[in-house]
Amino acid sequence: MNELLRLSRRNALRVTGTGLFTTTVLGGSGLSVSATDHVEQIEASESDLWRPGFHFAPPQGWINDPNGLVYHEGVYHLFFQYNPYNPFWEDIEWGHATSEDLFEWTYHGVKLPFDEENNIGKFSGGGTVDTQNTAGFGEDALILSYTGAHLNESIQDQRIAYSTDNGKTVTAYADNPVVDTNDPEFRDPNVFWYEPNEHWIMVVSRAADGDDNGDERPAGIEFYSSEDHIDWTYESTFTIDEYEDVVAEIETNNGVYNDTVDLWECPDLFELPVEGTDETKWVLTVSVQGDPHVDHLIGEFDGHEFTMEDRELADYGYDYFAAMSWDNEPNDCRIQIGWAAHWPYMDFIPETGWRGIMSVPRNVALEGEESDIRLREYPAEKLVDLRQDKLADVSKEMVTSCRDPLEDTNANGRSLEIIMTIDPHSADTVGLRVREGENDQSVITYYTDKNQLEFDRLESSVDGPADGFYDPGQEDTTTMPLELREDGTIQLRVLVDRSSVEIFGNGGRRVMTNQIFPDWDSTGMSLFADKGAARVEDMVVYDLASQPLGIELHEGSHLR
Ligand code: FRU
Repeated sequence: MNELLRLSRRNALRVTGTGLFTTTVLGGSGLSVSATDHVEQIEASESDLWRPGFHFAPPQGWINDPNGLVYHEGVYHLFFQYNPYNPFWEDIEWGHATSEDLFEWTYHGVKLPFDEENNIGKFSGGGTVDTQNTAGFGEDALILSYTGAHLNESIQDQRIAYSTDNGKTVTAYADNPVVDTNDPEFRDPNVFWYEPNEHWIMVVSRAADGDDNGDERPAGIEFYSSEDHIDWTYESTFTIDEYEDVVAEIETNNGVYNDTVDLWECPDLFELPVEGTDETKWVLTVSVQGDPHVDHLIGEFDGHEFTMEDRELADYGYDYFAAMSWDNEPNDCRIQIGWAAHWPYMDFIPETGWRGIMSVPRNVALEGEESDIRLREYPAEKLVDLRQDKLADVSKEMVTSCRDPLEDTNANGRSLEIIMTIDPHSADTVGLRVREGENDQSVITYYTDKNQLEFDRLESSVDGPADGFYDPGQEDTTTMPLELREDGTIQLRVLVDRSSVEIFGNGGRRVMTNQIFPDWDSTGMSLFADKGAARVEDMVVYDLASQPLGIELHEGSHLR
């Protein structure tokens, strides 16, 4: 790998590259970014071949969870767990990026730096707008909540920081921490305004039984309330034991659930209308460690306690974690984004000076009736604005083992949106290959007998997973249940990018996200069917415009 990119904390932060890259020196050692405000751009090139076209990735270094998600005055803020110095998890701080449309991002540097003197990492948390100035930081101040992870003493406490200039400068609250229970596994505070009681609610994970702190609180998600976002009162815990009891009772229609939870992280609680009814339900999104995945727990919240009624797996792929949603979203939508990655193998995946991408931002919606409320996720609306050429437009064509209707089209590329309705008809399997090349391919297959969609990435990466990109046994396939709809078809919306494939099945009823690391030249696409003929009712393929990452440089932006 490029030695320039193997940077130590004390070195200059540099973005280098060839071709489309702009060579940009972001700073010398310390805070020595000289000069004026300006924006440079980075985009993918053959030498940075997995840099996404339309997903967020850092200029360099390591990212994990999205943090401090809040919308304010035309700007979506995306803070994130960040180590800008090398592509590994260490000395975590909060990086910052903003966007007006959730697709074109500008990176602004580190806003909550690692505290080297006290060895305190800045772990995950949420963001909100204090419209009534309850905390006294100023009207409409952004308030960020985060965990202080004391790496020496193994203690985690909850802290806040604020910004009165819409994120440009962020100041840590002088009397941090605001919640401290002396516990080693207590993190990821996320705060929202609970209108009926006119107070703030903090959801935070007590990731292990609180046996060290004398209060013996059980592992689970804790709820605190506050009138000023500073003084917090413990309200209740939704425990992992309670969850397991409910799960044992409810019927679940997928086979991948692991009913035992090691620990929960990154809670996110919000109320959603149930489409087509007058009802609302609360959704508690939690990231589950053990076999990492994200669960949506559906139920009721009364300002004090959460009661769970049902659950949905957010994503059936390997690569979706730490999902959180934007607070204060202007369109009354709930848009979540996750880290499109998987802890167990993140140190092994190939890299070109950076590691980690975010998922596509997703709307989360509920539909159904009291006894059967279902969740849907689908890409944020503005994705359609990235559409460029329509590379294929197929309708009412048969697919067989020797007939591929895509052959007569221009369907190929590295950043694509594919929308298709397929009737498996008499075929046993029908599917689509993307990022297909001489040595690699990613294969999406529908199995009619099992009503199951499979994503196979065994051959999806340049050198193949056998080279240790993924953990042994986790490299190849993921599956999701997908019922035929009433008319006998399935509907897929597939987002292909330089290093990921996201599949939204049947209007987002099921979702599956996986990373891939294909060759630059693997841009092919084909349809296939086996043992019979399937019918493409309709299929369109769009080339999606690349969104270069803007990099803003200015004095005081904490770029080091
Ligand atoms: C989830 C997580 C959080 C923690 C952060 C540290 O991915 O483990 O619980 O705050 O990562 O980077």
